[in-house]
Amino acid sequence: MNIQDIIAKKRDKQELSKEEIEYFITNYTNGNILDYQAAALVMAIYLNGMTETETTNLTLAMAHSGDILDLSELGIVVDKHSTGGIGDKVTLILAPIIASFGVPVAKMSGRGLGYTGGTIDKLESIPGYKTNLSVEQFIKNVKENGICVMGQTLNLDPADKKIYALRDSISATESIPLISSSIMSKKIAAGANKIVLDVTCGSGAFMKNIDEAINLAQMMKKIGTLANKETICIITNMEEPLGKAVGNYLEVIEALEFLKGNMNEDVKQVILELGAYMLKLAKKGDDINVNKQNILESVKSGKAYQKFKLWIKSQGGDISYLENKENCQRAKYIIEVKADTQGYVTSLDARKVGEISMRLGAGRIKKEDIIDQTVGVILEKKIGDKVQENDVLAYIYANDEKIGNDEAKALKEVYEIKQEIVNAKNNILKII
Ligand code: URA
Repeated sequence: MNIQDIIAKKRDKQELSKEEIEYFITNYTNGNILDYQAAALVMAIYLNGMTETETTNLTLAMAHSGDILDLSELGIVVDKHSTGGIGDKVTLILAPIIASFGVPVAKMSGRGLGYTGGTIDKLESIPGYKTNLSVEQFIKNVKENGICVMGQTLNLDPADKKIYALRDSISATESIPLISSSIMSKKIAAGANKIVLDVTCGSGAFMKNIDEAINLAQMMKKIGTLANKETICIITNMEEPLGKAVGNYLEVIEALEFLKGNMNEDVKQVILELGAYMLKLAKKGDDINVNKQNILESVKSGKAYQKFKLWIKSQGGDISYLENKENCQRAKYIIEVKADTQGYVTSLDARKVGEISMRLGAGRIKKEDIIDQTVGVILEKKIGDKVQENDVLAYIYANDEKIGNDEAKALKEVYEIKQEIVNAKNNILKII
């Protein structure tokens, strides 16, 4: 077997065998297959797709490219993963909520790449927070505190680490077989028994329309079933960013405010839906509406917030820094973006907002870029909101005045303000 023949087969739209897929994954992970050869195969997969059998074989080969974590001593572990988005602070909020019900949260999260954010970068904006733990420490934290969220530093799914970075560098991210295998191989390797997937859909997501999102969701659910991991997919709206904040530290603060009871409506919808299904899978209640009420109660009573503090502290994070806004790090320049006209916000393209935040320094253009924790965007007006002339639409948080002013102009262009009234979209599009 050799990689040239495998590339040629996929280039010619033929189905790869299990052995060929395993050969590729093993030899790319150990360095025998070179990046340019892998890039050619990945692009051929991107262009010509894969059958369900190929996608499943790819997922399993990737999952077994490194260690498989055994979390059986923790009981039912329900994992959650998002296909990526802008302003997506869901894990920061949901993890302590779920843990407050006594459901163990043992989660590995990723970093942002390109215009999408990543939970680990957000958590690292809290001084002292450690994302790099040993397996023993990870499990010990879950046992002691019911919650631990770390980065992908262990030898779990090394094939995904290489393929994901490669896909990003050759514009091959938006592909159903590649996304399904990337996400499901990580979930299998990370040892959870049950999985809730947030499949984002819209301009700021990899799936731009509902049909594509449904196909992706169905594929991941099938793989979950085959791997004996009950999987529920919730398709959520990513036409505009989620919530108000886009940018690492700004999103941590929005998450904190949510846990104190100050919830933005769109974030609330997503948290309640995902959370209610996570509780159902964890056998904490079969009735989704009752579960939602219980989640609201956990926030109202302060239990979820207490869990958040315990979690952050147990991983070395400085809680006083979060509790006292005076201590907070701040960007040097906070620039208002004002409306020139009155009307209603009819569009606020999530991807464009993500790109603005990235250019301010909140995301990486290249994998090795160091991100700026304090910069980003606060959106005061979202789709459906009424706007008067001179109202503040948004704030740009920048550490470079010129970049800040340029991006403030760019953000103004992203806001479409018209005379017609549009309703904000329901954020939950479908459950699969
Ligand atoms: N998240 C992942 O982990 N992988 C993808 O391919 C897309 C989103």
